[in-house]
Amino acid sequence: MAVKMHLSFFILATIGCMPLVSVSSTTHVVGHKLGWNLPSYPGFYDDWAKKQTFVVGDVLLFQYHPGQNTVVQVDKNDYDHCTTRNILHTYFRGNSSATLEKPGDYFYFSSVGKHCDFGQKLHVTVSQ
Ligand SMILES: *[C@@H]1O[C@H](CO)[C@@H](O)[C@H](O)[C@H]1NC(C)=O
Repeated sequence: MAVKMHLSFFILATIGCMPLVSVSSTTHVVGHKLGWNLPSYPGFYDDWAKKQTFVVGDVLLFQYHPGQNTVVQVDKNDYDHCTTRNILHTYFRGNSSATLEKPGDYFYFSSVGKHCDFGQKLHVTVSQ
């Protein structure tokens, strides 16, 4: 009896672990506990990004309330100057997910008020 239970537990545990091994995409909650909000200092999102590894297929989850923030994906020039000349994508409905589909650099900021100037901007580099 004890052996049987042990065996079935082993089988269940093995099956339970298989998806963890085969699914490689990670969801990154941007800003961790702060979410996507005005940071307390300008380098906050850089510091957050430095602690992460981004690979193709990963998802960025921006947690924010609609109306209080947006997420615009822009090019490097817009990111550097907090301008919106080349918006690639706009998210505004709250709690938005963005899938990192290709290797390369991704640039985002909140287009509300002066949020970008105050450091609510994110640059991530995605490796293959
Ligand atoms: C966004 O996610 C947070 C945390 O899971 C949740 O508390 C909040 O209600 C969500 N807001 C919206 C607008 O979906």
